[in-house]
Amino acid sequence: MKKAATKKYNRRLRIICCDYINPQKDNKSSLQRNGAIVLTPVGKSQFKILDLGPVEKMFKKHGQKEVEVMDFSTQLVIPTFFDMHFHWVQDAVRLMPKDSLLEWLSKYTWPYEAKFKDKKYASDKAKLFARELVRVGTLGGACYSSLHAHSTDLAMKEFVGDFIVGNVLMDMNSPDYLTHSTKEGLKSVETLAKKYKERYALTPRFAPTTSPELMKAGASVARKNKSFIQTHLSETKNEIDYVLSIYKKLKGFEKVKSYTEIYEKTDILSSKTIMGHGIYLSDSELKTLAKTKTAIAHCPTSNAPVKELGLGSGLFDFNKTEKFKIRWALGSDIGGGPFLSMFDVMKSFVQQNKKKKNGATYEKALYRATLAGAEILNLDKEAGNLNVGKWANFLVLPAPKIKKDETTESVLKLLLEDKKQQRTDLDFLVEHTFYKGELFYSKV
Ligand code: GUN
Ligand code: FE
Repeated sequence: MKKAATKKYNRRLRIICCDYINPQKDNKSSLQRNGAIVLTPVGKSQFKILDLGPVEKMFKKHGQKEVEVMDFSTQLVIPTFFDMHFHWVQDAVRLMPKDSLLEWLSKYTWPYEAKFKDKKYASDKAKLFARELVRVGTLGGACYSSLHAHSTDLAMKEFVGDFIVGNVLMDMNSPDYLTHSTKEGLKSVETLAKKYKERYALTPRFAPTTSPELMKAGASVARKNKSFIQTHLSETKNEIDYVLSIYKKLKGFEKVKSYTEIYEKTDILSSKTIMGHGIYLSDSELKTLAKTKTAIAHCPTSNAPVKELGLGSGLFDFNKTEKFKIRWALGSDIGGGPFLSMFDVMKSFVQQNKKKKNGATYEKALYRATLAGAEILNLDKEAGNLNVGKWANFLVLPAPKIKKDETTESVLKLLLEDKKQQRTDLDFLVEHTFYKGELFYSKV
């Protein structure tokens, strides 16, 4: 991981004066106007959260000691984001024609991912992508690299934060220029899982391109190394038809009735598994996901209509998912989704559900873009929000004019629904990004 590009701070308590929002649940968060977050030093250069509350109270409690004050009192602080599904190797295909998922993959995405075979190209791109991540405030999540093992190594090396990363496995129905044998695929999993343990994610690209043998053997390696597992599930109807048509011809799968059943039979469903999308799932599939404690990454900007720069996959039913007690969190799905900022993802989530009046609030979106992701990655004791005892991972934003009777919902709405704002502006909303109390990005 990269070192912070910051000057050395001394090791005093640090009091950050700011307004802040601290998400806790779908409909619970604290909004503190004129607040302060008190940080305590840990080790050489990092900080954890010691206390937070109204500014006068914090100074009364902690101000007698020698403290360093950081004045963000005209700004808004929120926790850093977790993006629970993105492809770091799809930067250049975000805005390619997206009339159909399978066509977008074979025409644009796979040829582009093949470029990452070149280590120098991949290394330059990883550095750039790492910079983008801190700029948009994403310091954790679940990431897909290309099938080349070094593209996982590079993401692990360059990205700042708490990411799980995996190389996509493609040993069938894949183009000649982007495929490996089952044996080669498994070898890469063994090497990388052993090296990165719980930071590695076994990543079958999706059922059509990854043989059941590779999924099964990979799952066993993942379990042995406490690694995660991630793949795509039921993103579009055409994809489901395609998957079933392939698997009906495979030995042992002749009778499978659903996409989820394929993954169940290949042993990849577990409490450490994250399924991308899951839009078209029957009750019995949802039951299977719940039973196996599998989580879902919902990617609203990727699923959005083509005119909104998505793949037009459909609307995810988060209420139903919650009814089945399935954990879920938000993801950008770059390049299925067009923009990296989780603000854009949150806004799309709220706006696509607006007419339904189904509880898709900004407050919920913030929880699902932060703590919910940390919970899925088992990192919620140390990250995901601003609770006492966690690492000081936070973003400084311009504060909209916060009045007395403002709520989390109205503040986020003011922030994200500014009429003058373009979609791309959301990628540049963050003014400062702090990870473990260290400054990694400043806008100016
Ligand atoms: N299904 C299989 N591969 C992909 C991918 O790269 N992006 C999306 N959105 N869906 C997929
Ligand atoms: Fe994806």
